[in-house]
Amino acid sequence: MKSSRIPGFYKMPVEERVRKVKEFAGLTDEEEKLLLSFSALPKDIANIMVENVVSTMQLPLGIATNFTVNGKDVLIPMAIEETSVVAAASNAAKMARPEGFKAKATEPVMIGQIQILNPSKDAQERIMERKEDILELANAQDKILVSIGGGAKDIEARCLRADMMVVHILVDVRDAMGANAVNTMAEAIAPLLEKITGGKALLRIISNLAIYRLAEAEVTYRKDAIGGEDVVDNVVKAYEFAALDIFRTATHNKGIMNGIDAVVIATGNDWRAVEAGAHSYAAMNGYKPLTTWQKDENGDLRGHIKIPIAVGTVGGITKVHPMAKLCLRILGVQNARELAEIMAAVGLAQNFAALRALATKGIQAGHMKLHAQNIAVMAGATGDEIEMVARKMIEEGKIRMDRAKEILEEIRKK
Ligand code: MEV
Repeated sequence: MKSSRIPGFYKMPVEERVRKVKEFAGLTDEEEKLLLSFSALPKDIANIMVENVVSTMQLPLGIATNFTVNGKDVLIPMAIEETSVVAAASNAAKMARPEGFKAKATEPVMIGQIQILNPSKDAQERIMERKEDILELANAQDKILVSIGGGAKDIEARCLRADMMVVHILVDVRDAMGANAVNTMAEAIAPLLEKITGGKALLRIISNLAIYRLAEAEVTYRKDAIGGEDVVDNVVKAYEFAALDIFRTATHNKGIMNGIDAVVIATGNDWRAVEAGAHSYAAMNGYKPLTTWQKDENGDLRGHIKIPIAVGTVGGITKVHPMAKLCLRILGVQNARELAEIMAAVGLAQNFAALRALATKGIQAGHMKLHAQNIAVMAGATGDEIEMVARKMIEEGKIRMDRAKEILEEIRKK
């Protein structure tokens, strides 16, 4: 069986890391070359993705190792500018081995909203009476989606104010993120809804609060694997802080999204949609942490995450952007649900890593090494010099540009 446990991965030269990923994911020579090209988005593709293109903006793509999700080892591509996130995820996944993470996701059902102004008093009942006609009209817009088991499945209607109501169309979007399918259907049924309600349809658009498209993951960290029962207790206390105080909740959830967004970006998905969904879901009953952490009967640490994750493996740029396609290959996922499950597991791992670090030695120690390396690069260090300059600055406790330049000069003189 393939293992995502690749000891010393972080110490290998880039080419060797790429070789390991190639082996794991069965990549072709072309795909290996693409990874090593460090610029995977050709001008012609960028130019059709958005308007007024002048260049591309690149982010590092790291691989988080050690993940086991639902009994299967996976390598996780993460596109992110922040130091330590990939290392923290890999480390958290390592401590969760061999069991790893269990994850599941609901059917991929998204909500389309149609805002109706000045509806008749009995509009809600009349909509429910005509539900089948509305669904039929919606489904006529996307025969392919219906043929693969997706399509409009249900209708909901709510009164918001005497002069305003909203109709929801619930659409199973299968392996797409779904915005196009849902928006098309919402626009198509609006005239019929106007007739039924006697009102005027104004906005017709997807909701990013995807309460019917949820992903969950759980993990148990054995106390001995994470530093003992004190660590378990302190992580639980750290979680309780987030549950009690909104200023902490924001940062707690931000840490979760560090992991999830990085995979969302790597796979070419819409991270603003996932962010909007996550935070609005967290706020449904007063803004709360997206994870929970408890001590179990054995004194081990049990964590859980539940979060809407609207991502696709088809549509959008997932099949257009060469690197997004490649990242999906590395993940080896078969469909959008599996992708969402992995993302939930990464979010949970990321949150654990942050809470454990914060509740023990603090996060700055871990950040310092990469920070020192960044300063060394800015001071002009290249190759082996980077590590040498960084190490010396850490030993001296002085991580500053002027000192980096001095150390670099000394090294070069030798
Ligand atoms: C930093 O990007 C993320 C953390 O602040 C998350 C947290 O505090 O839980 C470390």
